Amino acid sequence: MSTKTIARGLEGVLFTESAMCFIDGQAGRLYYGGYKIQDLAEYSTFEEVSFLLLHGHLPSRQELQAFSQKLTSLRALPPALLESMRRYPKNAHPMSALRTAVSELGMLDADEDNVSPEALYEKSLSLIAKFATIVAANKRLREGLDPIAPRADLSHAANFLYMSNGKEPTAEETKLMDVALILQAEHGFNASTFTAIAAYSTHTDIYSAITAGVSSLKGPRHGGANEAVMKMIGEIGSVENVGPWLENLVANKGRVMGMGHRVYKAYDPRAGVLEKYASIVAEKQGHSKEYAILKEVERRAGAIYNPKGIYPNVDFYSGVVYKDLGYDLEYFTPIFAVARISGWTGHILEYTRLDDRLLRPDAAYTGQLDLPYVPLEQR
Ligand code: ACO
Repeated sequence: MSTKTIARGLEGVLFTESAMCFIDGQAGRLYYGGYKIQDLAEYSTFEEVSFLLLHGHLPSRQELQAFSQKLTSLRALPPALLESMRRYPKNAHPMSALRTAVSELGMLDADEDNVSPEALYEKSLSLIAKFATIVAANKRLREGLDPIAPRADLSHAANFLYMSNGKEPTAEETKLMDVALILQAEHGFNASTFTAIAAYSTHTDIYSAITAGVSSLKGPRHGGANEAVMKMIGEIGSVENVGPWLENLVANKGRVMGMGHRVYKAYDPRAGVLEKYASIVAEKQGHSKEYAILKEVERRAGAIYNPKGIYPNVDFYSGVVYKDLGYDLEYFTPIFAVARISGWTGHILEYTRLDDRLLRPDAAYTGQLDLPYVPLEQR
C-alpha cells in the first residue's frame, strides 16, 4: 500500500513554475505577468495582454504594432473549414462546434505535428486570431446567415463583435468586449489549462492539446458556469423569488452557479470589475431585471456562503454583459474560450521552455492482486 498522501482534485499540488499569473485566493488578488488585473482591464487591450502572456513582458509600441498586425493577418479561416462548418448540425452547442473546428484546423495544417518552439509560437498566434473568427462564424451560421469576413482595420475585440453581429460596434461595446476578454484570458492552472498542458506534454500537436482544453472548459463546473448563471436567473424569475428559491436550493444542497472557486476564498477580483460594467449595462440597456436578481442572490446567498469562503466568481456577472453585446447564453462559454486561448497557448509555450516533461501523476492502488484467472465459461 502506498504511503504517499493523496491530493484530491490535485489541490495544492505544484508541478511546475510559472511567471504568467499570480492568484492570491485569500485576499482576492489577481496579476498577469506582475500587473494587477484591474489595471489591465482598465488601460490595456486584448492584443497587449496576449503579448504579455506569450512573451512575459508588456510590448513596446513597435512590438505591439507588429504583434497586432500578425494577429490580424491570421484571422481568416481556411475555406475548407468554413465549408465544413456550414454542415455542422444547427442544434449543436457552439462549444461542440468550436471543439470540432479546432480539431479540423489541425487536420488542415500540413505542418500540424511540428512542435518546435518557432512553430508552436506561430500556431499559437494563429489560434488566438482564429478562435474569434470560428465563434463568430458559427454564430452567424446558426442564425441562418453567412459568416462575415474579418476586417483588418478593427481591433481584435471590435472585429469579433463585427463578425458576430454584422455591424461595427461602438467604442463602448468594444471596450466592454476587450474587458471581458482581458479578464478571462488567463487564470493559472485551472482545469482547461492543465488539460491542455497534460495533452501537450505527450508532444501531441498543439491543435489536439487546445481541443482538449476546449473540451475541459465546456464543463458546467468550469467555463460552462456562466451559461448556468443565466439559466439560474431564468429559473428564479423575479427578485421576490430569490428568497424561496435559495431556501429550496440550500435544503437540497444545491449550488449557486457563479459562486465559489477552488482558489478564491474571497471576492473574485474579475467579478468585481464585471459587476461595475454589468451595473452600467443594466442602467443603460434595460437588463436591469437580470442584474437586480443577481444582486439579490449575491446579498442573500452571500449571507449564507461568504463565511465559508464562497463568493461570486468571474461567471456571476459575465452573462449580463455578454447578453448586452448581442450573444445568446450558448455563446458565453465560447467567448470565454476566445479569451482563454491566449492563456492556454502562453502556458504551453512557457512549459516548453521550463520543463517540457511528460505529465504522469499516479493514484493509490486499492484493488486486489494475484487473483486466479477463471475462464469465462466458469464465471
Ligand atoms: N453554492 C453552494 N455551495 C457551494 C458552492 C456553491 N456555488 N461551491 C462550493 N460549495 C460548497 C460545496 O457544496 C461543498 O460543501 P460541503 O463541504 O458541505 O460538501 C464545499 O462548498 C466545497 O465544495 P467543493 O466542490 O469541494 O469545492 P471546490 O473547490 O472543488 O469548488 C467549484 C469549486 C467547483 C467552482 C464550486 O465552487 C462550484 O461548483 N461552483 C459553482 C459552479 C461555478 O460557478 N463554476 C465556475 C468556477 S470559475 C471558472 O471556472 C471560471
